Amino acid sequence: MENWLAGAEAGRRHVMSRLQVYYLTGTGNSLLAARWLAAAARAAGFGVAVRSIVPAPSSDGPDAQPGDLLALCLPTHAFTAPWAMIRFALGLPPSRGTPALVLVTRGTLLVGRVLIPGLEGTAAYLIAGILRVKGYDVRGVHAVDMPSNWTIVHPAMSVEPTERVVGQAEVEVTAFVQSVLAGRRRLDGQVRLALGLALAPVSLLYNILGRFRLAKLNFATRACNSCGRCARECPHGAIRMRGRPPRPFWTYDCQGCMRCRSYCPTEAIETSYSFGALASFLTGSSALAFLVGEAARHVPAARALNRGWLGRLATYAYGLGAMALVYRAFHAAIRVPAVNRFFALTTPTTRFRRYRAPGVSAADLRGDE
Ligand SMILES: Cc1cc2nc3c(=O)[nH]c(=O)nc-3n(C[C@H](O)[C@H](O)[C@H](O)COP(=O)(O)O)c2cc1C
Ligand code: SF4
Ligand code: SF4
Repeated sequence: MENWLAGAEAGRRHVMSRLQVYYLTGTGNSLLAARWLAAAARAAGFGVAVRSIVPAPSSDGPDAQPGDLLALCLPTHAFTAPWAMIRFALGLPPSRGTPALVLVTRGTLLVGRVLIPGLEGTAAYLIAGILRVKGYDVRGVHAVDMPSNWTIVHPAMSVEPTERVVGQAEVEVTAFVQSVLAGRRRLDGQVRLALGLALAPVSLLYNILGRFRLAKLNFATRACNSCGRCARECPHGAIRMRGRPPRPFWTYDCQGCMRCRSYCPTEAIETSYSFGALASFLTGSSALAFLVGEAARHVPAARALNRGWLGRLATYAYGLGAMALVYRAFHAAIRVPAVNRFFALTTPTTRFRRYRAPGVSAADLRGDE
């Protein structure tokens, strides 16, 4: 069956016959959402291709043909789109009216018996805006609640509410894509976009600073058996196995997607709150001010590093550089069993349940459907 939709350019019509879905996922929620899009499109007689954007698509990338509907499917990170999807959208070829849709998953939380909805903020419309600027005809924008996977901040939901939330999400996503396939324009969530714009400073701070610092709080407890799976399965190649016996070492390439933590077979991956507090002290602006003060005794011009924009830039560069150094020391220190035990005992993440999207295996997360 072929579906006809009015094209973006006056007088032009698009025959939509194939759905191309590109997705980014950490723990499988956005993969499930991509599969639901695909199932609804197949049921409507469309050809379907579903591809992960990391590592880079295995074919020669998005090559919109006449008749394609492009769908981008992604999680929310800090009220916006993850950097990997922003980069992918920026790298798409320009188009003259190819229809497109954006589907975002966000994290809902169970507090007592109440489900608190997630907030996608600018995630969906940032990607939709990039598509629009590139000449795509954005026909659908939607965000759907899935169980939150940010399990370094809170425990994952138990099985029953997880399945309930996922079941509801499937119904919602199917209805959304069916209306887009039927030719209706669905630009949902504009109030949430306004909230996202108000929270834009938080999103920006997370992306330029927070995610790098969080990456360096990860460590493996003594439950680690050096299998190397976390390094192999990381979609962003952000983990190196270092030392003897090898232990995971997180680099600044980490995007905080939670895959390593969720799929480690011995649940050895934790995020250290106590090291975080110590590192903030050593790598923050007060430490820099002290160092600059000391340097200024010999080189008075160094005082400029404490003032104005130069000061802010110096604080930023010092924070990242010092964090990388301090993390090396941390990675070495946790080899000592007593030190490792101390950091494991002083972080709540050891007690937080991991999250994996129901029915999604590590092999499913690896690639094309
Ligand atoms: C680092 C990080 C930040 C997150 N920030 C948000 C957020 O701002 N708003 C929200 O609703 N969910 C947030 N979440 C939850 C995820 O967006 C949500 O669980 C998503 O469905 C995960 O999809 P995935 O399994 O495809 O990665 C965050 C998760 C992570 C790991
Ligand atoms: S997957 Fe887990 S057990 Fe294997 S190397 Fe990584 S942290 Fe250690
Ligand atoms: S290191 Fe872990 S959290 Fe970071 S990007 Fe890789 S799999 Fe995701």
